[in-house]
Amino acid sequence: MTAATYQYVDLPDAQVVTTRALLTARENITDTVAARAMMCIHGNAGFGKTLAVNTCLRELEDARGEEVCRVTFRARPTARAVRYELFTALGLPGEAPRHPSEFDRLLKTALAERPRTFLVDEAQWLNGEAFEYFRYLWDEPSTQLAIVFVGGAGCHTVLRREPMLSSRVFIWQQFARLTPQEVQDVIPLFHPVWAEAAPEDIVFADQHAAHGNFRAWAQLTAHIRTALARTGRPKVDEELLRWAFSRLA
Ligand SMILES: Nc1ncnc2c1ncn2[C@@H]1O[C@H](COP(=O)(O)OP(=O)(O)OP(=O)(O)O)[C@@H](O)[C@H]1O
Ligand SMILES: [Mg+2]
Repeated sequence: MTAATYQYVDLPDAQVVTTRALLTARENITDTVAARAMMCIHGNAGFGKTLAVNTCLRELEDARGEEVCRVTFRARPTARAVRYELFTALGLPGEAPRHPSEFDRLLKTALAERPRTFLVDEAQWLNGEAFEYFRYLWDEPSTQLAIVFVGGAGCHTVLRREPMLSSRVFIWQQFARLTPQEVQDVIPLFHPVWAEAAPEDIVFADQHAAHGNFRAWAQLTAHIRTALARTGRPKVDEELLRWAFSRLA
């Protein structure tokens, strides 16, 4: 899978850049996986959590052969839905068992075979029962699971309400906006349209539109590409920026 797979929109020539949050996530995830522990990454929408976690886990897959199972919830799952998602993520053959106890046995047997890491994205959708199920699997002595929970701001609140699970969380990491200095450092590397841009234009774009939010930067970049292609101008300027902002307002 290439880095581009994680981009918000199909944004040709965009690069994954090393933000401070990504560096910290790399260290935290490496330590969590080594300890076969659980961690939680939380923060607002568009701050780059999913991209960072996928980038770091991909590195561990490539460098250390870590087996990563990605589970993403898009709505509040029932206990059966959680079991079923895990069954699918593990790529287990045959039909999913009907009875919960049979299902649990199957999952525990599969998880005892070898160490694995679960990436549970959109974890703010999980309720107490669902979190409790992950804890149950993780606590089982035969399993060697590391779990990375990733979620919006609500994820932290929901997890904190589950003391059985949250007391077992090894590392908590909050993602925040890019600082103005980080914007200056990483945005020119993020996409060629910013590589040649005047630093004032990047400051202007951040203050008026992107506000340190990476998804907003990606959207803005897509509109600027369009504007450059339509006008034939060689590089971004204030007029093009204002036009792009009008689409984001
Ligand atoms: N380090 C990075 N390098 C390059 N682009 C990035 C980086 N981080 C984020 N982006 C861009 O910002 C977009 C949003 O990031 P991402 O999907 O990871 O946010 P998120 O925090 O998971 O948001 P949500 O809570 O809505 O799921 C990405 O699709 C990508 O285009
Ligand atoms: Mg995400």
